[in-house]
Parts: sequence; structure tokens; C-alpha cells
Amino acid sequence: MPSLNAILLTILPLATLTTLTSAECTRAALKAATAQYVAAASAGNPALWTALSPNASYIENDEPVPVARGVLANPMKLDHNRSFHDTTACAALTELIVTDTAKPYVVHTRMLFDPALDAARIKTVESTVATTGDWAFNATGYLYWNSLESWAPIPEGQRDSRDTIKAAGDAYFDRWNDTRVEIPLGTPCARLEGGAYTGLGRLEENTCNLGGFPSNIVVTNRRYIVDEEMGVVDIFIGFPGLDRNVPTRPAPDSHLFRVQGGKVRYIHTVSHCFTTRCGMTGPVPGSGNVGGGGERGCRRGLGV
Ligand SMILES: *[C@@H]1O[C@H](CO)[C@@H](O)[C@H](O)[C@H]1NC(C)=O
Ligand SMILES: *[C@@H]1O[C@H](CO)[C@@H](O)[C@H](O)[C@H]1NC(C)=O
Ligand SMILES: *[C@@H]1O[C@H](CO)[C@@H](O)[C@H](O)[C@H]1NC(C)=O
Ligand SMILES: *[C@@H]1O[C@H](CO)[C@@H](O)[C@H](O)[C@H]1NC(C)=O
Repeated sequence: MPSLNAILLTILPLATLTTLTSAECTRAALKAATAQYVAAASAGNPALWTALSPNASYIENDEPVPVARGVLANPMKLDHNRSFHDTTACAALTELIVTDTAKPYVVHTRMLFDPALDAARIKTVESTVATTGDWAFNATGYLYWNSLESWAPIPEGQRDSRDTIKAAGDAYFDRWNDTRVEIPLGTPCARLEGGAYTGLGRLEENTCNLGGFPSNIVVTNRRYIVDEEMGVVDIFIGFPGLDRNVPTRPAPDSHLFRVQGGKVRYIHTVSHCFTTRCGMTGPVPGSGNVGGGGERGCRRGLGV
């Protein structure tokens, strides 16, 4: 029996082309494009979407790479995929989790489309790719904690505005350089960092509070995807200080925020290290389901 991937391979490009050559950047068109990206990742066949967008720039962990040599080059046994669609910015974000012990990954991929050309002509694809040796990495943990969460669409009438959602994510990073900023953290709130749930003290407290942030980290190069239906902002950033061996070099990082009623409910982080485990020794702060410092733990180690 031909695999599902083989079938997708045959039918998807044509089907997607037909769907997408008409007009503007609709949610349906963006959904077709993210489905195609997921199919390409699963099949390990980048041509599935490069056929549509031969000139797209392709970046992994802030470095341009030939798509054929990137993470899409080999099939991935996807345990999870979830996508968000930004009809205003004509952009999308896909989250992938692969627990395959030979090649585990957690990937956040940000895609920008050119509405002027057609609905799903891809201009830019950039991925934050985390694997063994990256910050707090544990794909099994990522899959497990994610499975306990609810990411259903926010019912109409209860959706936050684009500005409210975006401001919640921005506040989180602004706080790293300005102690006066209040982050609208909800209760409960859960932060999934690399593969561990992290918070101050015990996990049952259901808090994303870190008990104080550093005050001198300027988070750079913020790039946004906002999906009002899902209450989501994802921000690709450069995170100085994450890799303690190269603390001044901003590490490639994506933070996905789920905002409900103006408050942060979930945070998913994907972070790439330049050096093994970003120079962290010993257990992941916050691993073993005991809570702990997480991102702040890293900076504590740095003395910031
Ligand atoms: C890709 O770039 C080439 C060279 O600039 C151009 O001729 C071609 O039309 C472009 N293709 C698409 C699909 O944008
Ligand atoms: C992606 O996720 C959707 C929804 O959970 C699922 O139906 C689909 O099979 C997944 N695709 C792949 C290639 O794993
Ligand atoms: C990864 O996460 C799983 C699920 O929470 C946990 O059982 C396991 O101990 C974690 N592994 C490491 C190395 O922290
Ligand atoms: C960071 O904080 C310092 C001190 O308050 C301030 O001078 C600087 O403008 C801030 N930088 C950014 C990018 O916000």
C-alpha cells in the first residue's frame, strides 16, 4: 500500500496550486499552505512547497541554508503539528514535535507570503529548530505537556484584539529590560520551555511567574505572527544571554503565546544553542516536573 506521504506527494502540489492561485490572503489559503509545509516536512520532500515558491528565502536558526540541506531534507515522524494563520500580515506559524529518538525535533516555522503575487507564494520561511543539545531540550516532554493543553479556537465574541494579543507577548520581552513592565500573566499559566514546564516553585501553582526577571537583557529582532481566532502571538526573537558561552550573541528563539481574556495562558518556547545546552550543566532548571527557574535560571547562572 502506498504510504499517505506518497499519496500526498502526488496530489498536494496540484491541489494546492489550484486552491491558491486566486486572489488574496485568506485563512483558507494560508491553511492550505501550512498543510503543504507539514506534508513536506513529514515526507522529507522540500520540493512539495519549493515548487510553488522557487525564490523563497529559507533560514534555519538565523542562518540561510539550502532547503535541501535543512530540516526538511529527511522525513520526520511527526507526533504533533499545529499551525496559526495571520490573515492581516499574510503569514503563518507551524509547530512540529518529533519524538523519534534517532532524530528528535521541536520546530517553529514562520512563513511570510506575498499577497501581491498570489495567495500562497512564499517569500520567506524561517525556522527555529531545536534538537538534542539545545536549551532544556526534551521532545518527549514537549509532546507530553502539550497534550495536556487546550488550544481550541477562541469562541467568537471572546476574542482579544490583535493589539491586545501582541501587547501581551511584547510585555513579556520588554520586561527583560525594564522592571516597570507588568506582564499580563493569567492564572493558571503554563510555560513549556524546551520540554519542561517551568514556573516559580511548584507546578501545581500553575504560574508563569519567575519571581523576578533580569533587568538588563534587550531582546532583539522581534518578528510577529498574530492569529486572533486562536488567541496567539508568536514572536521570533534574538535572545542574548541564553547561551552562556556566547552571552552577547542573541540566540535564535521563538516564543508562542496563547492569550485568553487579555492574559497569557500558555507559553511554548523553542530555542537554539550555539554551544551544547547553551553551556548549562546539570539538570534543566524546571525539569523533573518540579517547577523552577527556567529561563531565569539560565540568567541566574550568568549572574544577571
Ligand atoms: C524567481 O526569480 C527569477 C530570477 O529573478 C525570476 O525570473 C522568476 O520569475 C522568479 N519566480 C517566481 C515564481 O517569482
Ligand atoms: C497534522 O495534524 C493534524 C491535526 O492534528 C492531523 O490530522 C494530520 O494528520 C497531521 N499531519 C501529519 C502529516 O502528521
Ligand atoms: C523528558 O520529559 C518526560 C516527560 O515529562 C520525562 O519523563 C523525562 O524524564 C524527561 N527527560 C529528561 C532528560 O528530562
Ligand atoms: C533598555 O533599558 C535601558 C535602561 O533603562 C534603556 O536606556 C534602553 O533604552 C532600553 N533599551 C531598549 C531597547 O528598550
